[in-house]
Order: sequence, then C-alpha cells, then structure tokens
Amino acid sequence: MASAPGKVVLFGEHAVVYGHPAISTSISQRTTVTLRPIEERGVHLNRVKINPARHPHLAYLVGRLWNGSMTTGVDMSVQSDVPRGAGLGSSAAFAVASATALRAASGRWVDADNGAWHEGYASDGSEVELFRGEERVHQRTDTSARVYGQAAVSAEEASLLGHVAEALSQEGRASPMDTMTSAFGGLVMLSNRVEDASTWVMKRTMPMGDEQRTWDLHHLGGLHLEDGLSLVVGHTGINAPTTQMVAGVASRRVSDPGIDEAMQAIAGLVHRGLDALKSGDSETLGRTMTENHLLLRRIGVSHPKLEALVSAALPTALGAKLTGAGGGGCMIALTRDSKATSEAIELAGGRTWITELGTPGAHLEAWPEGGFVHRI
Ligand code: MEV
Repeated sequence: MASAPGKVVLFGEHAVVYGHPAISTSISQRTTVTLRPIEERGVHLNRVKINPARHPHLAYLVGRLWNGSMTTGVDMSVQSDVPRGAGLGSSAAFAVASATALRAASGRWVDADNGAWHEGYASDGSEVELFRGEERVHQRTDTSARVYGQAAVSAEEASLLGHVAEALSQEGRASPMDTMTSAFGGLVMLSNRVEDASTWVMKRTMPMGDEQRTWDLHHLGGLHLEDGLSLVVGHTGINAPTTQMVAGVASRRVSDPGIDEAMQAIAGLVHRGLDALKSGDSETLGRTMTENHLLLRRIGVSHPKLEALVSAALPTALGAKLTGAGGGGCMIALTRDSKATSEAIELAGGRTWITELGTPGAHLEAWPEGGFVHRI
C-alpha cells in the first residue's frame, strides 16, 4: 500500500510547461493505492484488467514495472481525498502512488558488489539480466539480491515514471512539477537553470512538439510559514481537465504574442516569490501570488467563478490566486485570518478548507515481508 500527496502551485503554473520556473508544495490530501495478489496474471484495477485505451498512463506504468514473467497477478484499488479535475494534482498523485506500490511489489535487483540498482529479471533462477545504462549484462543471482518493499522504492523513479505517464495523458504537454512534488513532498522548484547546487535533484528533458524542454528540478525541503499564517483552498466546484486547459494556452499562444510576454513576467515573479519564502516576507509572498493570478488571467486560464472567489478572499488575505490548470478547479489564499477569508470565499459560492503544506512525499504505508510476487 503506497500513498502520495496532491499539491498546490504557489507560482508559475502553465509557464512551467514552456520551461519557465515554478514553485509548488505538497498538501494534506493524499491518494492511496493498495495492491492485492490475485491468481489471474497481469494488473487489474478493481478486478477489471487494465484497458490501455481507458488508462494509458496506468498501462505505461504497468509496462515498465510489471513484466510478463510475474507468476502472480495484482488487483489495484484506489482511495483518494484529492479532488479530481481541481488543479490539486490528483492524476500525478495517482501515478506516483501507483508507481511506488508497483515497484515495491515487483521488487528490484541490487548488485551485491556495489549496491547499485538494476532493471532486470531472473531468467532461469540462477542468472539475472541487468541493464547497466544502455548495456545488457548477465549476472549470477548469487552476486545480486532481490529487494522488495521500502528498499526497492525511490522518489526519483516514481517522479520520472509518473511524469511520462502524465505526459501520455496530457497530449505530450506536461511539466514534471506535479509528479515531482507528489513523489518528493515538501517544497519543489523547477527552473531553466540550476538555481542552487545544494537543493538540485536532477535535470529532466522531454520532447514537446518540435522542441525539447528541459527543467532543473530542486527539492527545497519543508515549507515554514510565519506563525498564524494559513493557506485556504477554495474550490469552485467546476471540473476543468488539465489537458484541455494546457491545449488552450498552446493554441492561443500561436496568434497572441502577449501570452509569451505574460509567461516571461511570471518567470520573474517566481524568483521574487522564492526570495519572499526564504526570508519569511509574508506580505511580498501574498502580493506576488496576486500578481501571478493577474498574469494567469491574461493567458486566459481563469474563470468567472475563480475571479469571484479571488476577489472575495482579497480583502482579508495577503494574496490569492488560482492554482493548477485553472478554468475552474481551485484557488488559494494566503491569510492571517483564515476564518474571515474562508467565510468570504464560502459566501461567494466556494467550498473551502485549510490545508497543511510541505507534507511528506510518496511512501509505502504497508508491505508484506519479502514481497508477494514470484517470478519464473
Ligand atoms: C497543472 O497542475 C500545472 C500545469 O502547469 C500543467 C503542468 O505543469 O504540466 C497547468
């Protein structure tokens, strides 16, 4: 059983798809994926064999993490309190929790000489086929050990596999922001350069159309807000698919150069927001969020209901913005008076809650000793 959190974007959504910087943080809401062994081979979702046309991202993860030599099948069940289509990273949390659970159950070979991990499988019980970079090598199992559960999982792998899965379901246009935040937890920054070597985790490259996008991923650790400051989430109740919102920006951008200008301006705000986070300057943090909202409106991803909730929050908040893909979904408000801000958002028709920020990333909740999967 593995769980992974949803996220809110503090700065930089949409622009991050085009390689600009962004900052996001994990929230209290989580998705939990439970695997149970079943006799029928392959991976099933609620007892139904996964249909790649309906679940392309899950089919991709299964293809990478569950090869045909497994003697056991598994049934997946999903429990989630991350609302769907609300900009809170529900699909990333699902992909990352699934990748973590599947990896824990299917296990991984570890080279006994140097502790390095390998992809591979035991072909005849005495030899494993390993991939060292691009090279395939065979190694006797007495020099390799198979590990399961916690020892087999890695936030880096769940984040990378989750990103490919997200890109498959977002017509190729997806940044690694949601999946990285869900996998690592805490505060995450993506940038087009290495911002700070001590927080840098990896470089991620993905082809998008004719171009190649590159992000430097940073894990900034926990998020510490000033005492008494909270983040209120307001849900419009409108379900807005990310794929559609991201595709809308891509097509408007072709005829409206103002969209790229707005994205450049968002990039500048992200660095100001980062400085405010680091120095604990809550006023600047809030003001920068509101400015980011105005630029998101300019690129056409707001919605009248989001505008109503943001306007209702602002008189009692330090700042407010839509979060995630927009078009509906959620807004967030940074406030020292969470009661007044929540009431104002509710009066304007939103459903609110206060979320914790910087919660732990993906992890295993429970696993059987030795794993439950056998291979031929
Ligand atoms: C969605 O949570 C964030 C977007 O920037 C899309 C992405 O980063 O892939 C809108």
